[in-house]
Amino acid sequence: MQTTFISTSPTGISLYELSNARGMRVRVINYGARLFSMHVPTRSGDFVDVLAGFDTPDEFRGDNPYFNALVGRVANRIASGRFTLDGRTYRLAHNDGPNHLHGGLEGFDRKLWTVVEAEDGHITMRYVSPDGEEGYPGTLAVTVTYTLDESNALSLDYEATADRATPVNLTNHAYFNLDGDFRSVLSHEVSIAADRVIAADDLLIPTGELTPVAGTLYDFRTPHAVGAYLTPAHPPVIGKDGYDIGYVLLPHAVSTPVATARSVVTGVCMTVYTDRPVLQFYTGNFLDGTVVGKHPYPYQSAFCMETQGYSDAPNQPHFPSVTLPAGETYRAHTSYVFSVD
Ligand code: GLA
Repeated sequence: MQTTFISTSPTGISLYELSNARGMRVRVINYGARLFSMHVPTRSGDFVDVLAGFDTPDEFRGDNPYFNALVGRVANRIASGRFTLDGRTYRLAHNDGPNHLHGGLEGFDRKLWTVVEAEDGHITMRYVSPDGEEGYPGTLAVTVTYTLDESNALSLDYEATADRATPVNLTNHAYFNLDGDFRSVLSHEVSIAADRVIAADDLLIPTGELTPVAGTLYDFRTPHAVGAYLTPAHPPVIGKDGYDIGYVLLPHAVSTPVATARSVVTGVCMTVYTDRPVLQFYTGNFLDGTVVGKHPYPYQSAFCMETQGYSDAPNQPHFPSVTLPAGETYRAHTSYVFSVD
């Protein structure tokens, strides 16, 4: 495995490439610790880029919905942008209607990370979030390592420490289309090892209930086409149909897959492993074609499988906590493994 420095732009955004002997290539930028592109093998022996994005690193600074970014300090939603910790109430930005989403107005996805190591198929980046940033308590030092190995696995390993207790819930917001053409993900075959979802209201705030998937369109326990049970409105009601929900993963070892996705067009299969309890499955329902990069990105042209803690955990006492105590180390692992059927 190799890590190759490609370039640094005048704004300080560096581009690196991880590659292996099988020809898989993953490009990474230090702006938002984002994945820039990912070329994986197809059934026909070609390689296809399965990530949404832009032709140049600096374009990621423009308007786009967290394309392939490291999301934090707290991924997903915090109801009313408010939570109480150790008797003190913290107020955060309302950047999703009346609620807080993905770390706020300028989350980790919009920070320039420092590259601390880049060699042998991996890259490690670091960002120190100051006390009070986006309203969160305590200084939080985060490092993330992306590693490509010879089994075509891209691993994402996160570590964070804080000098005061703070909520931490990091994920990667990669937008995939395994057909590579970013037209629609509805023909992709997906499976998710979960028998419950985190029920949410119209604004995607958890109600507190965990609902069984059995007998509902949320049931992906056996693989089937994403679109099989969707009856999308025409014209689409952006954000209202499709999937955008947290799956409560069945108890699993980190070596057991939690989800799979497969393109019937290219034969590209993606298998997801993680030590996180939740997988947010999102079918690009807020994409509407206005963001144009390597492709136009119309409604439901990409999907995300964001591994994470429970959404709104700081306000839901019976959800597993996402609070990192002072002086302890947060560690999270996810890998996306590519094969061909
Ligand atoms: C996550 C959320 C979606 C949406 C996207 C960004 O996946 O669950 O509702 O906010 O991020 O557009």
